[in-house]
Amino acid sequence: KRLILIGPPGSGKGTQSPIIKDEYCLCHLATGDMLRAAVAAKTPLGVKAKEAMNKGELVSDDLVVGIIDEAMKKPSCQKGFILDGFPRTVVQAQKLDEMLQNQGVKVDKVLNFAIDDAILEERITGRWIHPSSGRTYHTKFAPPKVLGVDDVTGEPLIQRKDDTAAVLKLRLEAFHKQTEPGLVANLHAEKPPKEVTVEVEKVLS
Ligand code: AP5
Ligand code: ZN
Repeated sequence: KRLILIGPPGSGKGTQSPIIKDEYCLCHLATGDMLRAAVAAKTPLGVKAKEAMNKGELVSDDLVVGIIDEAMKKPSCQKGFILDGFPRTVVQAQKLDEMLQNQGVKVDKVLNFAIDDAILEERITGRWIHPSSGRTYHTKFAPPKVLGVDDVTGEPLIQRKDDTAAVLKLRLEAFHKQTEPGLVANLHAEKPPKEVTVEVEKVLS
């Protein structure tokens, strides 16, 4: 299967991905995870991405398209993949189309993690992660057996730099301005036909 997961910060993409991945033998391609690994390793990519990430802004299309292009060629991705957090702009979606066309494959489903913004702050500020495995915990909703410690390795858990209420606001803004309108079009279909047509035209223009 080839899946795309779209949703705002904290909607649960990273929580569901490992489960779906194991069930269907897919690879999990999370641009955020890959960028954070690059930042931690201080690679040239990480150096370029760090500032935007800490500010809750999107990293440039070129950088993330490059990472995905590279990652999708891995043997473990040939059976299928989960794209978690990519594409996030229209340009990224167009580039993805090209990459898949070149490989002669198609996306099976786009999963839209629809959720009210108001729920997200508690999820984001309570999140703790185990950086090397990507395992995610939450102080209230998914607490580790021992506070601040990974269940499997016993290593310490950390909080993401961008997981503050203030940066979340900016990440949500980026989602609603750059990702949502480009990739998902919600129409008010209960309105009279002419008004719906106006909405359709707006979406397509
Ligand atoms: P990224 O890492 O993709 O972050 P995000 O999209 O903001 O999403 P999150 O990882 O915060 O949320 P999630 O949906 O995975 O939530 P989770 O499952 O962990 O991107 C980070 C940054 O990298 C971006 O800001 C940007 O700078 C850059 N970037 C990445 N991709 C890019 C791209 N394509 N283009 C440009 N820039 C890019 O869940 C959150 C918490 O809630 C956890 O603690 C979890 O335990 C808990 N939880 C999960 N589900 C539930 C539930 N159902 N009920 C209760 N609690 C739950
Ligand atoms: Zn995530």
